[in-house]
Amino acid sequence: MNSSPIGFFDSGIGGVSVWKEVKKLLPKENTIYYADSKNSPYGSKSISEIQNISIKNSNWLLDKGCKLIVVACNTATTNAINLLRKKFQIPFVGIEPGIKPALKKSKKGKIGVLATKGTLSSELFEKTTKSIETNNYDIIESHGDGIVEIIESGDFENDELESILIEYLKPMIDYGIDQLVLGCTHYFIIQDLIQKIIGNNIMINNYNIAVASQVERILIREKIVNSEKNEIYNDFYSNGNNFALEKLLGKKNSVIEI
Ligand code: DGL
Repeated sequence: MNSSPIGFFDSGIGGVSVWKEVKKLLPKENTIYYADSKNSPYGSKSISEIQNISIKNSNWLLDKGCKLIVVACNTATTNAINLLRKKFQIPFVGIEPGIKPALKKSKKGKIGVLATKGTLSSELFEKTTKSIETNNYDIIESHGDGIVEIIESGDFENDELESILIEYLKPMIDYGIDQLVLGCTHYFIIQDLIQKIIGNNIMINNYNIAVASQVERILIREKIVNSEKNEIYNDFYSNGNNFALEKLLGKKNSVIEI
């Protein structure tokens, strides 16, 4: 059991940003990454569509023998993780936009959240922000419509991407935020471009590190840390867009088409 892989899924390549942090902390764990590019983007889908897709992806990873699943997607986490935890026996770790840590770090009490429509309209997101807003913090939100599609095309240096980002981020900059929450795992792939646009006075919090620590805590708690000495594997599967995933991973890891 301990040498069983940790599974990851996302609507494509975004969750690789989470996978990287988990591997940095837990290099001795085997992993399987499922890029569900065929169903991308999740952000504009209904709650029941996102839930059904998340169940399907989890079943796929369970068939591969995963001992823990990381829902490497904010949209799937905020809309489906409670259901997944009820439905399946193994532990699930999810990603939620790190609003509370960003507010803690904010000197002005003003933060921006760039996320998909599906995340911003989810019950879990509303619950979190409502409990905070009563304390007089200012949270300015923007739907990152169209960004995931461009990233999924593998064209991370696209001019259109920069102008879309400026359109979404300019109101936040003008509003005077000092922390920006990237509420979609895909956005971490273009973090440098986002940082260039917002400038160095606005911080981006990498909460994927906290996700990796949570995975480690659960492996220890459940006594399922990999202690075997066999060669480690990291398998990447994609059902639609090998180009972007291969570009992101470089030559080190090959992508299996399904
Ligand atoms: N990476 C997903 C997230 O974190 C992208 C969502 C989408 O497919 O729209 O929300």
